[in-house]
Amino acid sequence: GRKSGATIPITAEKAQPDREQPSSLDECRRCELWQYATQAVPGEGAKHAPIMVVGEQPGDQEDLAGQPFVGPAGKLLDRVFAQAEVDRKAIYLTNAVKHFKWEPKGKRRIHKTPAQREVEACHYWLEKELAAVKPKVIVAMGSTALKSVLGKGSVTLKDTLGKPIRHDGYWVVTIYHPSYVLRVPDEAAKQEAFSVMVKGLRLAHELLE
Ligand code: URA
Repeated sequence: GRKSGATIPITAEKAQPDREQPSSLDECRRCELWQYATQAVPGEGAKHAPIMVVGEQPGDQEDLAGQPFVGPAGKLLDRVFAQAEVDRKAIYLTNAVKHFKWEPKGKRRIHKTPAQREVEACHYWLEKELAAVKPKVIVAMGSTALKSVLGKGSVTLKDTLGKPIRHDGYWVVTIYHPSYVLRVPDEAAKQEAFSVMVKGLRLAHELLE
């Protein structure tokens, strides 16, 4: 805190990090999630990838590794990529929210869906990624990613599966989130959801032509 009566040097004021426009993900205080996470998890992949795949937020393993989709959801996603003949290194893979939101359950950290305000706060970073990568197609996995990409709206995941949307100069293709597929209890339904993901990625690839 400031001491009353002390002269405050201008330079010290200027050195204050900008809460609204942080210069790095590590310094981001646009929402409160940084306090509970190990680290921020930035997107990764090809610098000018034609396809950007957007998930929800890092999970437990991603939070520890500092990389997106390295845990169970990532393993499933890799199988989807393989079947759709998508090279993970040729795309850009990121999340709508860059910090892991969780609650304790015994010794485990359980994923908690990010709040709308957290998705909005973190949209700042997705915009920067979009401006840098300039993909032709955005693949939104699940409704959090869809909300972030389109902004608050009434379009649901179910409405848009298999139907590309033109938005802001991009094609937006929606697919299920891999964690959803992991949770489908019935084996046939799980296979079906998996193949909907594969079809969505193939569709994304066709939109490049
Ligand atoms: N789920 C996500 O949405 N993103 C990850 O990086 C991992 C799991």
